[in-house]
Amino acid sequence: MWAKLETLAAATADRRITTLFDEDPARATEFSAAFEGMIFDYSKTNIDVETRRTLLDMARATHVAERRDAMFSGAKINETEGRAVLHTALRNLSGRRVEVDGEDVMPGVLDTLARMEAFAEEVRTGRFTGQGGKITDVVNIGIGGSDLGPAMAALALAPYCDGPRVHFVSNVDGAHVHDTLQGLNPETTLVIVASKTFTTIETMTNAETARLWMAEAVTDTGAQFAALSSNLEKTAEWGIDASRVFGFEDWVGGRYSVWGPIGLSVMLAVGPQDFRAFLAGGESMDQHFLTAKFSENLPVLLALVGIWHNQGQGHGTRAVLPYDQRLVRLPAYLQQLEMESNGKSVAMDGSDLTVNAGPVVWGEPGTNGQHAFYQLIHQGTRVVPCEFLLAARGQEEDLAHQHLLLVANCLAQSQALMTGRSLDTAREMMAAKGLEGEELERQARHRVFPGNRPSTTLIYPQLTPYRLGQIVALYEHRVFVEGVMLGINSYDQWGVELGKELALSLQPVLEGEDRGAALDGSTAMLAGYFRAGGPEG
Ligand code: F6P
Repeated sequence: MWAKLETLAAATADRRITTLFDEDPARATEFSAAFEGMIFDYSKTNIDVETRRTLLDMARATHVAERRDAMFSGAKINETEGRAVLHTALRNLSGRRVEVDGEDVMPGVLDTLARMEAFAEEVRTGRFTGQGGKITDVVNIGIGGSDLGPAMAALALAPYCDGPRVHFVSNVDGAHVHDTLQGLNPETTLVIVASKTFTTIETMTNAETARLWMAEAVTDTGAQFAALSSNLEKTAEWGIDASRVFGFEDWVGGRYSVWGPIGLSVMLAVGPQDFRAFLAGGESMDQHFLTAKFSENLPVLLALVGIWHNQGQGHGTRAVLPYDQRLVRLPAYLQQLEMESNGKSVAMDGSDLTVNAGPVVWGEPGTNGQHAFYQLIHQGTRVVPCEFLLAARGQEEDLAHQHLLLVANCLAQSQALMTGRSLDTAREMMAAKGLEGEELERQARHRVFPGNRPSTTLIYPQLTPYRLGQIVALYEHRVFVEGVMLGINSYDQWGVELGKELALSLQPVLEGEDRGAALDGSTAMLAGYFRAGGPEG
């Protein structure tokens, strides 16, 4: 299967994307797909009709549709952990029956959603108070999926935030919790401990620090704590009243959990109605993913473009470039979503993968990235496929002129990546400046843009809660499709375990235990430096 793709990639390696536009004037519409007013344009890639047909055949041959249906129906597709994968149930607002082990999970999901909404209303209206009155600030303590999703969404939906201010603490580095709590009033702060397992050392350590901080001013600290977790035993042990514990099941993966209780901080900020709109956006993308034919199916197409660039053309990295400032944390969110899901080298059946799996995902909002790393994207020796995201309308109506500038920059970048600038044009530019001979040639060469660098653009009307829900679900399903085509389990994350274990075992060494030759020389040296406190300064 992969051989065919590699052959196609080799056969088209020297072809310029611009020639595809010359050959087919309708290419932009032929190689883009629309859903509810948003367009995914993949025409600025080297994909032609045959490549697309091959990729679509591969998706069918790897049973993407069957696996998708299995996922939505509650089958235990996370085989290494024996779990169903049902984050989609969290946004199944229709309440349509979803079974795990023969039991409908929807009554529980909708009940928890209703409890979250009631709590959010109480906090937002001031019926729920801290010792000092109405809650002004909410601190979400969590890491990975218990942080990145809500942190990303709260920022993205800033124009809709009319509740308490929300803050996020994730890093075990004391600087993070210290700097966040500094300046907050413990008497009007609600702390949310967000941890699926309720055992994650970073989160539990920060939660304890927050509890001590609060205890300096608040008599009943427990009353100003809430918990989001699937480990109800541990939340009870920790002393958080069951009325403020919002649970979820093991069929919600951490990096897929923003749709449920882990999204409570977002709901507190934007209100239950806008949070429901976010869920409805996700649900609409689910329906599209389930029903649209593959050639018009946005998650499938986004995945196929990813497969083409990575496994076909061999570009092992992918830049996500939102021209939408409020999506500033989307690249970080997608790093976990994509790299924790598909950063694997063993197939579901335990065999070694024969192709590279998930790419390195990174990015920053435009236009900031343009003044930082775009140099490499345009003229570096590596090709970095780029994924632009762009809203047709900003939220600041009085700043429409700035939005126009933003859009012009986004379109200019994808155009420049594709068309480039030839040596001849660069020579003409240098000649116009009065240069001649060797100096002209030398200067011209630095001004050449190779072009032919692929990009996609997702353009949507405006970043609303509903649209954000669609975008996040789109990327979730893209990861799923790529994972199925690679034959891996996108829903486990064994690769994070070893480091956790070693961090635990190294603590005694940092406290003074001598492991002698049992410890490698580098780690021993660095630990010794720490124990000595390092030199001054
Ligand atoms: O990094 C591993 C991981 O398990 C992530 O998958 C998860 O999102 C994060 O840790 C936090 O886990 P928890 O919500 O259980 O604290």
